Amino acid sequence: MIDFNVMETIKLRKSVRRYADKTVGDSVKNELTDYIQGIGSGPFGTTPRFQLLDLEPLKNKELRSLGTYGFIRGARLYLLGAIDDQQGAHEDLGFCLENIILKATSLGLGTCWLGGTFKRAAFANRINLASNELLPAITPVGWPEEKISTADSLIRFIEGSKKRKPWSALFLKGDGDTALSEAEANEYKDVLEAVRMGPSASNRQPWRIIKDGSDKFHFYMKENIMINRIISKVRLQNIDMGIAMSHFEMTARAKGLPGGWIMKEPPFICPGLKYIATWTLNKKLKAVVGD
Ligand SMILES: Cc1cc2nc3c(=O)[nH]c(=O)nc-3n(C[C@H](O)[C@H](O)[C@H](O)COP(=O)(O)O)c2cc1C
Repeated sequence: MIDFNVMETIKLRKSVRRYADKTVGDSVKNELTDYIQGIGSGPFGTTPRFQLLDLEPLKNKELRSLGTYGFIRGARLYLLGAIDDQQGAHEDLGFCLENIILKATSLGLGTCWLGGTFKRAAFANRINLASNELLPAITPVGWPEEKISTADSLIRFIEGSKKRKPWSALFLKGDGDTALSEAEANEYKDVLEAVRMGPSASNRQPWRIIKDGSDKFHFYMKENIMINRIISKVRLQNIDMGIAMSHFEMTARAKGLPGGWIMKEPPFICPGLKYIATWTLNKKLKAVVGD
């Protein structure tokens, strides 16, 4: 159950790479664990497997093997997300883990999606990864260090972490040729803005959305092969698409615009874009909004 202000939390979330020397106490940890246990499956119907890994009891040698190449400092808790290697599973991981990350943000915790800069094999051992499973991403979870280090500022500067592409580059109308203005988005303006604010691998923002009529939104991925195919079977940009879907769905529901996902490619010709899914308003669901 979403028990936090979705828009405010999406605005608050940012990648935290330096953590304070302060344990996450049992009450906060239990609240997060309960939330993780209730998360279920994503829009494609697959259920990611999550494990909260507490590094506190580990010995120094074991800790050293669980590295993040210096990208993350001071975190004692990590959340690991494993999937079965099947259609839609990366999107579902993006969808479910982003939902959990927003819950953690609402509790004041810091997180950082990690798809590349962690020792995958060592973390895979900790979650007992099965042969048909992948470990596409993990996140540290902890209290953010108040003073941002020079190294962190440097990563944020290089990646342009705060920057997002303009509306005109992400959102289109009709057949996918013309940009959709904020005014034309009508009551979906905040919903699309929530997608635009989302995190993505190397901040590439591969999401492209076509508004079809008044209440249908087709989600496409503008794939960057270097980023999406570099790690064997892991697809970081398909995760980005799931993150966009989670921001869209959570904000739409919060605004009283319930709907659901269908996976049926529309007949538009969109060179260079891969179809992922379509959100359709479903007024019949209105009764359950706010549950
Ligand atoms: C799927 C995914 C994988 C990512 N992998 C890494 C990573 O390996 N290392 C890292 O430092 N940041 C990683 N990031 C964080 C992005 O760099 C970050 O989200 C982006 O620059 C936007 O910044 P923000 O999260 O502060 O808004 C990843 C983000 C996503 C969504």
